Parts: sequence; C-alpha cells; structure tokens
Amino acid sequence: MNDEILLELHDKVALIRLNRPQVLNALNDALMDQLGAALDKIEADETIGCVVITGSEKAFAAGADISAMATYSYMDAYKGDFITRNWERLKTFRKPVIAAVSGVALGGGCELAMMCDIVFAADNARFGQPEVKLGTIPGAGGTQRLPRAVGKTKAMDLCLTGRLMSADEAERAGLVARIYPADQLLDEAMAAARQVASYSLPVLMMLKESVNRAFEGPLNEGLLFERRTLHASFALADQKEGMAAFVEKRKPNFTNR
Ligand code: CAA
Repeated sequence: MNDEILLELHDKVALIRLNRPQVLNALNDALMDQLGAALDKIEADETIGCVVITGSEKAFAAGADISAMATYSYMDAYKGDFITRNWERLKTFRKPVIAAVSGVALGGGCELAMMCDIVFAADNARFGQPEVKLGTIPGAGGTQRLPRAVGKTKAMDLCLTGRLMSADEAERAGLVARIYPADQLLDEAMAAARQVASYSLPVLMMLKESVNRAFEGPLNEGLLFERRTLHASFALADQKEGMAAFVEKRKPNFTNR
C-alpha cells in the first residue's frame, strides 16, 4: 500500500502530510482511509494534544479524486456511502486540528480544510468549490460549512461560479484565521499547535465541542451546552491546578485529568 499520508509525531503534536503530489493531493478512498486510521491512532494516544494537517507548497488538496469517481453510478455512490464512509472521521475527531493550507484547496480539499478547527493559509493559497464545472455539487459539507464561514452571498458566489478565492479574500471573509509567507506556514502552524497542546487536553476537547455547538444548533441550546460544560470543568484536576497556579504566580502543570 502507498503512503497516501505521512504521519509524524513531534512531542504533543501530530503532523499529517497529505502525500499524493503527482495529483495535487486529490483525495481518494485510500488516502481518506489512511487519514481515518491515523486519526484513530492519534485519538487513542493520550500524549497528543493537537494535530496539524498540511499538503505540499503547491496543493493542500485539489479535491476529491475525479478519475476515481468519474464513472460512479448512483448506486456506487449510494451503496458505497461515498464521503460519509471515511471522510467523516475528521468530523468526529475530538482533539483540535489545524489545517495549514498552501496552494490550492479546492472542492473536497476546501471542505477538508473547513472540517478542521483552525485554518492557516500561505499567501499563495487559493480556495474554491469548483464542482459546478464538473456537473456536480460540493458533497463533503461545502454547501453547509462555507456559508457558515463566509456568509450566504460569498458562498453562493463561490459555489455557483466555481471561481477561486485568494488567501487574502478568505481571511477577510472569515474562512482563514491567519496568513503567512509560504515558507513560514508550517513552522507557524506547528508553533500554534504546540501552544494549544500545552493546555489541558480535556479542556481543549470541551472547548472544541462547545464552539462547534455554535455551528450545529440554536443559540439557546449552545449557551446551555457551554454553561453545563463550564460547570463540568470544575470537576477537572486541571482546573484546580490552572487556577491554583495563577493564584500562586507559577506555571501550571496539567495532567489531562
Ligand atoms: N482529481 C484527480 N486528479 C487531479 C485532481 C483531482 N481533483 N486535480 C488535479 N489532478 C491531477 C491532474 O489530472 C494532473 O494529473 P496528470 O499530470 O496525470 O495529468 C495533475 O493532478 C496536475 O494537475 P494539472 O495539470 O491540472 O495542474 P494545473 O496546475 O494546471 O492545475 C488545478 C491545477 C487548477 C488545481 C487543476 O488541476 C484542477 O482544476 N483540478 C481539479 C479541481 C476540482 O475540480 N476539484 C473538485 C473535485 S470534485 C469534489 O471535490 C467533490 C466533493 O465535494 C467531494
């Protein structure tokens, strides 16, 4: 089996590199299966607190693999549970994930970035949902996550015209958190991931779950979820440690408990 992704562990940070450079990291079943298996492994590893997913300088990912799906029938897609079967592992992953996007993030590549919790972009990054040009629609969450990220009119513009959006435009629109020169992107993403991973893992998981409620439900339910999760955080040893360390003017020693 080819290494469609490369997994590196750097102390508390896992780095996943999408690794199909010959096709601009087009996302096929083998790659998504391997990504899912890597996420399973990282989820089970208590020492890892944050994940960075990146591609090459030229491409984060140019979308779902068009050659692989070009001849799919409806039954192939439906019975094979296309997308849901393996792409959604990222959605259920509970630790924070940073996408470090250089080059193109198109179609499923843009959708993969949007499944991550934070998107950093290189100044050469370009985002888009060009499925309309192929006679289909975004199918890995693009029609749902893009409007939530950039608003309806820009999402409609991108999906209906298939045009690409620069890193600057994506940052202004709220899709991208930070932009860096391409040669600094990965270092900066790893530095941010190290900072995130230095905190209490259960608190990071509670935070991720709570912020995601803002996208997945009505305001009052989200506020209630947040309040109850805040209350639950007082059961953590790390909350006792974090606040005691502040009062005693020392660095906290989190134990992920
Ligand atoms: N699937 C399969 N192969 C792809 C691919 C994709 N999504 N994108 C690029 N490739 C392949 C090309 O076929 C080419 O292979 P060969 O060298 O064997 O010909 C190689 O990658 C390099 O690509 P180009 O020669 O086209 O490179 P370029 O620099 O001229 O253009 C590009 C780059 C603008 C990204 C262009 O490759 C492109 O438009 N790609 C397709 C983008 C796209 O439509 N993505 C959406 C896919 S559908 C989807 O994702 C559905 C969903 O929601 C899940």
